[in-house]
Amino acid sequence: MCGIVCVSGSIDAALILLRGLKQLEYRGYDSAGIAVHEPDGAIRRARAAGKVAALEAAISTPFCGTSGIAHTRWATHGAPTEANAHPHRAGRVCLVHNGIIENFSPLRKELLAEGRSFSSETDTEVVAHLLDRELDLVSDPKVALLNVLSRLEGAFALAAIIEGEPDLVLGARRGAPLVAASGKGAGFLASDIMAITGEATSVIYLEEGDSVLVRPSGIEVYGLDGLPVVRHAVPAPASMAQAEKGNHRHFMQKEIYEQPEVVGRTLAAYLDAASGCIRARDGVDFRAITRLLIVGCGTASYAGQIAEYWFEALSGLPVKVDIASEFRYRNPAFLKGDAALFISQSGETADTLEALRLCKAAGVTTIALVNSPHSAMAREADIVAPTLAGPEIGVASTKAFTCQLAALAALAVLAGHQRGCLDSEAQSGHVANLLAIPSLMGAALKIDQEVDALATELANASIVLYLGRNAFFPLALEGALKLKEISYIHAEGYAAGELKHGPIALIEEDVAVVVIAPHDALFAKTRSSIQEVRARGARVIAITDNAGAAELEGEVSAILKLPDVQGMAAPIVAATAVQLLAYYVAVHKGTDVDQPRNLAKSVTVE
Ligand code: G6P
Repeated sequence: MCGIVCVSGSIDAALILLRGLKQLEYRGYDSAGIAVHEPDGAIRRARAAGKVAALEAAISTPFCGTSGIAHTRWATHGAPTEANAHPHRAGRVCLVHNGIIENFSPLRKELLAEGRSFSSETDTEVVAHLLDRELDLVSDPKVALLNVLSRLEGAFALAAIIEGEPDLVLGARRGAPLVAASGKGAGFLASDIMAITGEATSVIYLEEGDSVLVRPSGIEVYGLDGLPVVRHAVPAPASMAQAEKGNHRHFMQKEIYEQPEVVGRTLAAYLDAASGCIRARDGVDFRAITRLLIVGCGTASYAGQIAEYWFEALSGLPVKVDIASEFRYRNPAFLKGDAALFISQSGETADTLEALRLCKAAGVTTIALVNSPHSAMAREADIVAPTLAGPEIGVASTKAFTCQLAALAALAVLAGHQRGCLDSEAQSGHVANLLAIPSLMGAALKIDQEVDALATELANASIVLYLGRNAFFPLALEGALKLKEISYIHAEGYAAGELKHGPIALIEEDVAVVVIAPHDALFAKTRSSIQEVRARGARVIAITDNAGAAELEGEVSAILKLPDVQGMAAPIVAATAVQLLAYYVAVHKGTDVDQPRNLAKSVTVE
């Protein structure tokens, strides 16, 4: 949450900072700001409520300095106003921050008592004041920074510039991501390397607790104890090609359409098509595990819920799925032989990361299923299982979700085989089923125009309920989440069998019910649920296959027909339908599809 980008020693610092901010908007877009050392020695600042475009509009005269810091905000403390926008200024210091300073209230009181005054409601401004005060006491900026850090509680990353130190950018990583990079004679800091690709040639993925001094001449890193540490630089990714929309209207649409390719790429990392086997993963031995804990947030947690059906059915391995924010605070009881799988696109989600640390501290083997190979989860877990979705820009997750499902399906087969529940023939049957997913997804996307037409009407619904059974129940949850987050229509997902235990009371004429009803062993049960809501006046949209469509014809208001798909491939393919439905409803409602209100893609605060 919140994006930081900083540069030291570039001919046009502001250009790089504003460009970087646009790449970081996925982290929050409540306000944006920039501060640059001008050639006269002063720091000039510009801030605006809203997106980076609003900041650009607010800059009347171009900046002309070579070093500066910039920020895009997802509001925590204080409304999304210009006054609360970063960078915050105190005396000589300008500072940007991502995360939460939990003890900001006593610190603010302390500073107020010393006669300092505040111009925002943020926790961030406190840190700017602390650094300014410290610089009055010690002349060395590094010592001042380390002294300030020792006073702060919470999880955050921050960066600062100081008047009179035109080449220096200070930074620190305490629980939120930060990278340091260099290239073209300049030094950089950023929340995500994506902000500076094209500029940076080498990057240091800072470790937890690192502090950093960035100058054009080089990068100095200090560990938690304040002593210099060597962090190896690796080549920075060069291309931004995947972060462009191409011919698509929105990133979300592009990412929906990329799924056949990226799911195929992810599957290729797990499946050996020639032998019909799942590739063993270093360190993963499902025979040694007696229970699998699966933890994630949002869409990632729904991927985990779907995988629970698969692991238990294919391998007999007991699975417990938890939402990370609940898991980490409920003193979970562990069993001997527990392993824990953490699912996260970003690999940085604060609650999931803390849940991982909690398991590690308890001696539980940790596996990170992550899309970001340099993320904190990837670095801290015992075992990494990758998804290869590429950068996902739309805040509503689509391709990352189906790539998570593809990897989880492969792991469930591996577990089944390792635990003796699936013989080689059964294993290769599942492998063949999974290998068909990319082309089936491609075929499923052909419903695009029908969904577009259907969405016009659905956009007027007051409530949309999503129903499903078995693995399609968590997919119903995901469908409802997609719709509510980008169209702002109240949507809820339910297990179809649970309908009569409450949700059915909501049914009236302007309520739409989306039923995910493949023609599988539970079809007849799901069909009964359709009858129950239809009898009470709901408009029913069925997402089904050829056989299901033949039976439901005339019984529902609309049918979205997917190709016939069996086994674990079925919910993965059906995911495209719920994604398209949410996408087109949002387009018809005219909402900001890629950057829906109040949300951010990477949630690095609690
Ligand atoms: C945010 C995003 C969701 C995502 C969730 C977990 O809420 O908007 O799309 O599912 O965080 O993110 P992660 O990076 O851990 O998968």
